Amino acid sequence: MGAIKTLQTGLAYSQSLLSYKTNGSPRPFSASFVVSNRCNIRCSYCNFPLMKEPELTLPQVEALFKRLKQIGVMRLGLLGGEPLYRKDILEIIATAKQLGFFISLNSNLLLYDKFNGKLSDIDYFFTSLDGTPERHIKNRGKQDYDKVLAAIRHIRSTGKPLTAICVVTDYETADADYLIALAQKENITLHFQPECFDTEIVLRTANEQLNQQKAKVFWQYLLTQKQQGAPLTSSAEYFKYIIHWHNYKQSAVYTPEKRCAAGLGYLFIDATGTAYPCAYTKGKTKGINLLEENWQTAFTKKTPCTQCIVGPMLEFNLLFEKPFSSVANVLNIA
Ligand SMILES: C[S@@+](CC[C@H](N)C(=O)[O-])C[C@H]1O[C@@H](n2cnc3c(N)ncnc32)[C@H](O)[C@@H]1O
Ligand code: SF4
Repeated sequence: MGAIKTLQTGLAYSQSLLSYKTNGSPRPFSASFVVSNRCNIRCSYCNFPLMKEPELTLPQVEALFKRLKQIGVMRLGLLGGEPLYRKDILEIIATAKQLGFFISLNSNLLLYDKFNGKLSDIDYFFTSLDGTPERHIKNRGKQDYDKVLAAIRHIRSTGKPLTAICVVTDYETADADYLIALAQKENITLHFQPECFDTEIVLRTANEQLNQQKAKVFWQYLLTQKQQGAPLTSSAEYFKYIIHWHNYKQSAVYTPEKRCAAGLGYLFIDATGTAYPCAYTKGKTKGINLLEENWQTAFTKKTPCTQCIVGPMLEFNLLFEKPFSSVANVLNIA
């Protein structure tokens, strides 16, 4: 991240935090935008490619980004579906760049080689690696694992940071060991997140076989690895929170005395330009059309849940609930 963007992102976060702590008006510093639900592959746990929704046109995307700028967003995550599947993705990135956002891109990287180094405006890359090639293919469909690795190497050779997201489906520490060794070799970082269940953007409900104790041991193992210096981008607080989660078959719960920073500190925008507090709440709460309405006045500050183990949202919530212990780790999480 360039020094100026780092400073601007830090400032936007500080303003968000101040507003959150003083119960002020919503002031998201970070937004994730689904550029397209369409995807070149079909992962076993993901529902994006099956959601048929109209996409915003390029001028609408520009209007959306300007609106985000007005409400104080500095960090813009472009995701999907597969964002590189969209034909005008380079124009979308250029628009975001022109408006001065810190831009991250979540991509499966299978189309990366078609872009011939044209993704230099991306500040931070996220990709997906679910474990050994066998586990990855079991979860994410038959594909060229080496192609993903080649793209990762190319991105790192340009000096850009990259985090690989691992969706944990089977709680096997051997997969974690494999990925940690790979991350050390390729000089990348890892973010492990539990498979998320029972919401619009995902495909599955928890398997009855999911073993609470085995999952707890797995998250404890990752915390120990983190403390021993493994390249895990998630904060220690993140692992501690997940270790104490009451039921891994449930991704989120509503606890009235708890607060959630979704919608206040960060938000999610689907492919149609409709905004929700976070990705998990799409379909559970009324969305706000950001092309027509202003988030700050339209958002009621209510979320259908207040506690969760949905990977990126948990890390963001810790950033607002425990800012001092989380901040160093989290500014680069999707
Ligand atoms: C929706 S994808 C979009 C980006 C890109 N297509 C990719 O796969 O990296 C963003 C991330 O969410 C993860 N994901 C998808 N379904 C999930 C689920 N049910 N639980 C947790 N993470 C999930 C994906 O593995 C990916 O790392
Ligand atoms: S996780 Fe990513 S690559 Fe897999 S189906 Fe969903 S959007 Fe496509």
